[in-house]
Amino acid sequence: MTTTTQGDAATTTRGNAGGTTTQGDADTATQGNTGTATRGNVGAAYIRVEGRDKVTGAARYAGEIPFADLAHGWLVLSSVARGRVRALDTDAVLAMPGVLTVLHHGNAPRVDTAFTGMMGVAPDPSTGLFQHDRVPHMGWPVALVVAETSEQAREAAEALVVRYDREPHDVAFSAGREAEAYALDGHMPAVVEKGDLEAELAASAVVVDAEYTTPEEHHNPMEPHAAAARWEGGRLEVVDSNQGTGWVAGELANLFSLDPASVRVRSEHVGGGFGSKGTRAHQVAAVMAATVLQRPVRVVLTRRQMFSLAGHRSPTAQRVRLGADADGRLRALEHRSLNHTSTVHDFVEPGAAASRSMYAADAHHTASRLVKLDVPTPTWMRAPGEAPGSFALESALDELAERCGIDPIELRVRNEPAVGPVSGLPFGSRNLIACFREGARRFGWDGRDPRPGVRREGRWLLGTGTAAASFPTLAMPSTAALTAEADGTFTVRINAADIGTGARTALTLVAADVLEVPADRVRVRIGDSDLGAASIAGGSAGTRSWGWAVTAAAQELRRSLPQGADIPPEGVTVRSDTAEALGALARKERHAFGSQFAEVAVDPATGEIRVRRMLGIFAAGRIVNPLTARNQFVGGMTWGISMALHEEAVRDRASGGLYGADLAGYHVAAHADVPHIEADWVDDPDPDDPVGIKGIGEVGIVGAAAAVANAVWHATGVRHRNLPIRPDRVLAGGDA
Ligand code: MOS
Repeated sequence: MTTTTQGDAATTTRGNAGGTTTQGDADTATQGNTGTATRGNVGAAYIRVEGRDKVTGAARYAGEIPFADLAHGWLVLSSVARGRVRALDTDAVLAMPGVLTVLHHGNAPRVDTAFTGMMGVAPDPSTGLFQHDRVPHMGWPVALVVAETSEQAREAAEALVVRYDREPHDVAFSAGREAEAYALDGHMPAVVEKGDLEAELAASAVVVDAEYTTPEEHHNPMEPHAAAARWEGGRLEVVDSNQGTGWVAGELANLFSLDPASVRVRSEHVGGGFGSKGTRAHQVAAVMAATVLQRPVRVVLTRRQMFSLAGHRSPTAQRVRLGADADGRLRALEHRSLNHTSTVHDFVEPGAAASRSMYAADAHHTASRLVKLDVPTPTWMRAPGEAPGSFALESALDELAERCGIDPIELRVRNEPAVGPVSGLPFGSRNLIACFREGARRFGWDGRDPRPGVRREGRWLLGTGTAAASFPTLAMPSTAALTAEADGTFTVRINAADIGTGARTALTLVAADVLEVPADRVRVRIGDSDLGAASIAGGSAGTRSWGWAVTAAAQELRRSLPQGADIPPEGVTVRSDTAEALGALARKERHAFGSQFAEVAVDPATGEIRVRRMLGIFAAGRIVNPLTARNQFVGGMTWGISMALHEEAVRDRASGGLYGADLAGYHVAAHADVPHIEADWVDDPDPDDPVGIKGIGEVGIVGAAAAVANAVWHATGVRHRNLPIRPDRVLAGGDA
């Protein structure tokens, strides 16, 4: 029904939306939604609508919602990296207190994994739990023990003896595996070649040819994955923590061959996802057990289990070759990226793909390839492709700037494309250079001494670095319902997911803005597959996709409900569906952009690196809520520090498992690691989105690790091309 024209986009922009909002504005608004913030315009700071519930504990998460007669499942994971389950000694465990059943490949319900999943990509068959005796990686689920209490289930699960026929495994990822790698189109084409790369490299005055690596990384949302399943009046009901209840409900319906209408998944509050919260082993295990026992069953993953069951970001080995004229103008840009995947599923970490849109060059070759190892299947993790890819490309740009004797920002200005460098398509909007100009001004970049290793402060060497950020601007079809209630309030119903981003609040503001009512007269219901089809919280597309549907519904309500009309007790409800409007969008290069700046201090005696300050300036569409938007950017930048200096999941080649698969062994940047971070933005409303939104969930991490690494070079004169830049690598003086 409702389609939204481009013309509406401009006219709905008002208030202080889209202007540069300073950090100061955002901070002073944290006192509450009082004073000028009360109305809740798009663009004005507004505290999260469920914030009070969250800080008082009233907001319940999937692992703590009470159910009558709830049984508890505990997963048993393989202790070998490859082989077969020969035997499970279930009798001993079934005799333990409270134990109700043990599910495994010999007795579990059959499921169907041969269906088409998200974005037309086949789902990871790892969700087909207990269907065979093969073990494809360390930490593969081999059994579920269900008991009356969580403690009984855990004790029995830990007591279960599983015997394996072991086979030799291979988890050794390295750049040297490229010879056996293969290209596969994932959510973008794997290999794209434009122009004669070798000829342009040969004609270049300066060539940078460097290899970069990034380690295996894990999402580690604060809230572990958890799901409770039960059969209720012939319907399967699942209470879960996920990034899209429709996504999970659809996959569960497919797996268990159920009518989609008979599956309901709810996920009201989510303590982070970062790409890891789709359909995974815990929901499938809970559904199997609830079906077998005919009572509610909950399965919660431990932190340690998340390291093999929640997906991860593959390690990457990348090679970048840049050829330029003496003045820095690029003739050739080659970016190749290699990632690992499991033996059961192909997942591409498209590390080279983002390079297709960044810089003009006469020849452009990009390729992402993968190699199969005996590891868990990697998955989407915040800025999949862009995060590791930007470390390589933006480090290489810094190396080229050094070699050409050009300021790194000026180098990017000289290679700014007028249209998509490979696609030839126009940009929706491209304000990368505006981000660099504003960032340089705010950071104090001008007058920087380009020489490395010459600034000292006591035992510290000081340096500054910069890098570019980009992330695609996506939108997924969504439906929404909007009810004008008889009491003068409004209810939005949309199957959105608020994974901590503040989506619920953003949609409240979007609706209030179109309806021209105070935000406290709008309530937003989300996180329930019964609400209908809508985008997942993924691809940084959630708020844009849902905001579009909410705007369309609100515009329709204003058209169909005259001002002052009597509203019947049941209210007046309108619905929207954005599929048609999205289908009519012209093809463009649609991206958010940003500039990242970092200052570091390096102690050459200990190898310690301290990030002293960071600044990110983003051109990421119209900012709906500066408070929660700043959280997104600063969160992404914090991930960038973490990626640059700390995070590294190390696989033990002997066992095939991870060393220290917990938050003690896998260090995520904590308060002591994170300095003052400023994030701000330039005016950049998306011309085709009815609200002007682009999406901000992922662009904040992109380029952040490169900015830190470039600052470490500026401090020390040593290039670090392997992440993380650990103290031992600093002491070793570079590639190690
Ligand atoms: Mo994000 S990695 O698209 O959930």
